[in-house]
Amino acid sequence: MKIAVFSSKSYDEEFLRAAAQGSDIELVFFETRLNGSTAPLARGCRAVCVFVNDHVDEPALSVLHEMGVGLVALRCSGYNNVDLAAAERLGVVVARVPAYSPHAVAELTVALMLSLDRKLHKAYNRVREGNFNLEGLLGAELFRRTVGVIGTGKIGAIVAKILAGFECRLLAYDLVRNSEVEALGARYVALDDLCRESDIITLHCPLTPGTYRIINEDSLSLTKPGVMLINTSRGKLVDTEAVIRGLKSGHIGAVGLDVYEEEEELFFEDLSNQVIQDDVFARMLTFPNVIITGHQGYFTRPALEAIARQTVENIAAFARGETPPGVVETASGRRGTSLAG
Ligand code: NAI
Repeated sequence: MKIAVFSSKSYDEEFLRAAAQGSDIELVFFETRLNGSTAPLARGCRAVCVFVNDHVDEPALSVLHEMGVGLVALRCSGYNNVDLAAAERLGVVVARVPAYSPHAVAELTVALMLSLDRKLHKAYNRVREGNFNLEGLLGAELFRRTVGVIGTGKIGAIVAKILAGFECRLLAYDLVRNSEVEALGARYVALDDLCRESDIITLHCPLTPGTYRIINEDSLSLTKPGVMLINTSRGKLVDTEAVIRGLKSGHIGAVGLDVYEEEEELFFEDLSNQVIQDDVFARMLTFPNVIITGHQGYFTRPALEAIARQTVENIAAFARGETPPGVVETASGRRGTSLAG
């Protein structure tokens, strides 16, 4: 079976080819993103394989459906970029990789906390320039700080576990309690209390209508002076302009982001020879106490191997006429309508 892989990078090709070896899956790679205009590239294919910034909207799905594409295989967990209602209407199956390596994202989360605390981003540049002055590098310790974890599913629970090792005091907020997180000594509290009491707030909930800009002017106004904010989940969980105001006033002490509200226009591409047109993002880059990474939380060898393996399993099951193990389900037992990230 022939599959069109969109938004393809060299690493996608490497890991997907390895996972598909020995199967009758034929992969065709396209660097371009999927949308209504590029969908015709999938002519002759029975499935498309897409990533977070592909536009799997009604126009794209209609073209795909007309050409006989029956499966959208997401090589990520989130499916907020897929019009599930249109897919269901057209009978196009949507499958994803629900869990690959939550450790990858959890470890980057803690790496951001430690880097900001110890100002590693500044120290790295200083030492390379022969400047061994320590002025301005005075750090903080994670030991016994209070960390508020918003969303205690797979990733949030691992973050909590790692931080318990640092003897942090853990606060948690979620719609459902995770007994493993409680067993670490974490205390579930109301969101407002988490904001009031935390030295560090870290986001691990999906993007849904209920979590859109869960960190905003109001929630930030409750936070402690000097609070550190970490977001490795989805950019739209945070009102970036409110964060900029907090950074400018000095109220927010540090920010670590792996995701950004408007990242679609920026991330995953080399724009180093271009002028960044997004003034909000450009302003974020100017703060000495902000570290931004370009959505690389998932980007580890074990995670990419797991993503490729599960994507190929989804495609192979579809080719056999079976329901892919990672099919996106709805409450009614078919396909979902959540914006889960
Ligand atoms: P998960 O589904 O295991 O956990 C999400 C948790 O959020 C659940 O416990 C859920 O009850 C909770 N939640 C849902 N709505 C909530 C609300 N309104 N308020 C508070 N909690 C709420 O998901 P997992 O695997 O832990 O992933 C978390 C997020 O990490 C994903 O949704 C995605 O946005 C992000 N992610 C980021 C990656 C990166 O490369 N930076 C890679 C993979 C995921």
